[in-house]
Amino acid sequence: MTLEEKNQNDILNEFNDPNEIEFIFSDKPINRFKTKPEVEDKISLLAKLKNDLQNIKNCELKESAKKLVFSDGNSNSKIMIVGEGPGQKEDEVGKPFVGDAGLLLNKMLKAININRQDIYITNVVNYRPPNNRKPEPAEITRYSEYLRKHISIINPKILILMGSTAMESLFGSKIKISKERGNWKDVIINNKSYLTMITFHPAYLLRQPEQKKYSWADLKEIRKKIDELEINL
Ligand code: URA
Repeated sequence: MTLEEKNQNDILNEFNDPNEIEFIFSDKPINRFKTKPEVEDKISLLAKLKNDLQNIKNCELKESAKKLVFSDGNSNSKIMIVGEGPGQKEDEVGKPFVGDAGLLLNKMLKAININRQDIYITNVVNYRPPNNRKPEPAEITRYSEYLRKHISIINPKILILMGSTAMESLFGSKIKISKERGNWKDVIINNKSYLTMITFHPAYLLRQPEQKKYSWADLKEIRKKIDELEINL
């Protein structure tokens, strides 16, 4: 046996020593990218948030609703939309914006070349308010804690608040949507600033179609920002 063969034998014997700990070899590549833990983190943080909402106590909304309506779309998207709350259809299906307002939302997004499945959508309240009433100020305040967490987890580059309830949830009730819509604002959550656009809610546009011209101006502004920020959807 050559010296080289002997060395190789010694090494093999060392690995095969029955008294030694068992070595387990894996041919899977080592993941050196930082993004994977972030993605896993996001999934588990979203699951935890969903679970917290499922376990919310003393909430009239939860008591009367059929389903929790958590979110829809791509949780890695850089665009996040916040609506008001589930309606009848959403309550049945368990997804936001699947009724008439949802159909209009899909068309609005398409008009600026966005597929709905490429963005992330949620609501201020995650249970249908009885008879589709507007959420009470106390409910908006209570759920805004969850919404803020939700936004931090998704970490969007552009946040779109649709309607006055979404606006109130993050900016308070002292301002008017007719004045605030169409301008970029910053909302700060956990020391992080999120670029935000307030715009009309699609359900409002169904009732007041003459307001669509303002909505179209806001949508074009959003598209411009997406291109400026080079956001790939
Ligand atoms: N209106 C909303 O604000 N959200 C929905 O999910 C559906 C209608």
